[in-house]
Amino acid sequence: MEKNFKRITVTSALPYANGPVHIGHLAGVYVPADIYVRYLRLKGRDVIFIGGSDEHGVPVTIRARKEGVTVQEVVDRYHYLIKDSFEKFGISFDIYSRTTSKTHHQLASDFFRKLYDEGKFVELVTEQFYDEESNHFLTDRNIRGECPRCHNHDAYGDQCEKCGATLSPEELINPYNAETGHPLVRRATKHWYLPLDQYQPWLEKWILEEHKEWRPNVYGQCKSWLDGGLRPRAVTRDLDWGIPVPVEGAEGKVLYVWFDAPIGYISNTKELCDGNPEKYGSWETWWKDPETRLVHFIGKDNIVFHCIVFPSMLKAHGEYILPDNVPGNEFLNLEGNKISTSKNYAVWLNEYLEELPNRQDELRYVLTANAPETKDNDFTWADFQARCNNELVAVYGNFVNRALQLTQKYYEGVVPACGELTDYDRETLSEFQNVKENLESLLENFKFRDAQKEAMNLARIGNKYIADCEPWKIIKTDPERVKTVINISLQLTANLAIAFEPFLPFSSERLRKMIAMESFSWEQLGSIDLLPAGKQLPKPELLFTKIEDEVIAVQVKKLEETIKANEAAEYKAAPVKDTIPFEDFEKLDIRVGLVKACEKIKKSKKLLKFTLDDGSGVDRTILSGIAQWYEPERLVGKRVLFIANLAPRKMMGEESCGMILSAVNYNGDLSVTTTLDDVKGGSQVG
Ligand code: 2FM
Ligand code: ZN
Repeated sequence: MEKNFKRITVTSALPYANGPVHIGHLAGVYVPADIYVRYLRLKGRDVIFIGGSDEHGVPVTIRARKEGVTVQEVVDRYHYLIKDSFEKFGISFDIYSRTTSKTHHQLASDFFRKLYDEGKFVELVTEQFYDEESNHFLTDRNIRGECPRCHNHDAYGDQCEKCGATLSPEELINPYNAETGHPLVRRATKHWYLPLDQYQPWLEKWILEEHKEWRPNVYGQCKSWLDGGLRPRAVTRDLDWGIPVPVEGAEGKVLYVWFDAPIGYISNTKELCDGNPEKYGSWETWWKDPETRLVHFIGKDNIVFHCIVFPSMLKAHGEYILPDNVPGNEFLNLEGNKISTSKNYAVWLNEYLEELPNRQDELRYVLTANAPETKDNDFTWADFQARCNNELVAVYGNFVNRALQLTQKYYEGVVPACGELTDYDRETLSEFQNVKENLESLLENFKFRDAQKEAMNLARIGNKYIADCEPWKIIKTDPERVKTVINISLQLTANLAIAFEPFLPFSSERLRKMIAMESFSWEQLGSIDLLPAGKQLPKPELLFTKIEDEVIAVQVKKLEETIKANEAAEYKAAPVKDTIPFEDFEKLDIRVGLVKACEKIKKSKKLLKFTLDDGSGVDRTILSGIAQWYEPERLVGKRVLFIANLAPRKMMGEESCGMILSAVNYNGDLSVTTTLDDVKGGSQVG
């Protein structure tokens, strides 16, 4: 059951500083966390919101090697880029730090050392893959080899991307260094393991019995890990980038990135509080006081680390509180495909900010409306446009605009007094007043998608109210009634500004200025006297503007081009066919033909009919399946290569005498072959 916590520590997964952040990150972790925190702040709760970059691990080292720069350069570049994107999207962290900070190195190192000193680890010597050429051990992701199931030659040490099998490096046939292709050998190495098996009974009770309220996807994943039986997990690695293992005899070893990263939440809290103790108090209160509620916002690939591994580390340490909830989201796809940093297939936040300037709330809105809370969801630009234009502009923006414009028109921007209420007014107002409770319950239960819908419903109610009351029709005949209608509409507008603040902070702020409210708090939501009669409002501006088709087309095209570029990059030429004797080649009579005419064939979508001058004096007809790629007119007058001695074939009632030669591009597109210079029809090719 819900405990009455005094304060809340909210963390959001620390993104790897190996690339910019994209809409998947925003939808899965940062927007929901930000909504939650903004709501708590509006309520006046004691809350801190902790973020930061995860700067250790293998991916950053790979990127650095590929680019020929230092790892520090890579993490610096992306840390600042990510930080800036978050700021511009209004993700209201109290701190956004990094795991390369001094504070973090010290704290993570001390954390490890305490567990080590207390004998909480098991030491194991195992054989790991080693590259004798470059003298280093390889991590799972850096090892490739043949998949034992589908025999794909490029399977990773942890997974085969072709058949989806989860693998361990020892299973790979002929393992090699993914970066250099060099074959690998096995070599013994010592590591420290957290014996998760020992924590299994405790975890079963703590999660499966005491946290049944966790989201079904999170609870379900934990259950399946627990059902499978936990095994000790190595918390150190042979790597030269990371936090050195603070133990003698551990030279060349660092803490495993998944050991140090979650400790980063604690380090960043320490950095925050030590930097401003008057405001935040002691960091320990946020991590050690049982009256603090700890909530981790994460994506589904992080569930096991936040629900099983990190809690076991905290438990082993003994001084820390445990997460009370871990709202993990599923994944967001993009136009039906998986978002991929390595394939550059994403909507990158830094690019969005440049290409759709001042439209951060629009993206926040659509990502929440489509949030992958219980299942994977898809982001499409068409849906983005539809939701912006049909919901933000046509519902929320329209209502606010009407209320404010009518106030200007009839009362020169001064809030009119509310007269006697009709039953309909009372009904409308009571619908508004109920919303607060609904919103609270949804937000407290991490149902942000439904919560935002509820807020949008307020705007719908407002729109309906103003449309039903038709003040423009009765302004002459019943001016007193119009005053009441406009007053109520303005009160509803003020309520909307509050209700939407956690979701759409930029537009709420603009709206707050338009209705000249100094500040607002959650408790005011549902009030009908937020704007006193006689208050002068400034000239309003539009809250949202339409997204034009051209803007969407540019974005869609960009993604299509990325897919094409990836296909081209992944293309491998087909293996060369068996060798043939020269005489076999000589049997083929390849010639140049001049295209005299070319036309579509009525009954066929595929075929084009060529009339060629083949030098014989008699026209030759050849049918070719290239209609999908060429308008026939484009080919007339061109020289094409064709096989002249292929036995004639009948297709679609026409006889085809030969075959036009085309190249098959990587993506299956056909391209007709021709000669570089002007050659007479009938010339032999060979
Ligand atoms: O999956 C990721 O992007 C990780 N860098 C998340 C780390 S979360 C926490 F442990 F810091
Ligand atoms: Zn496979």
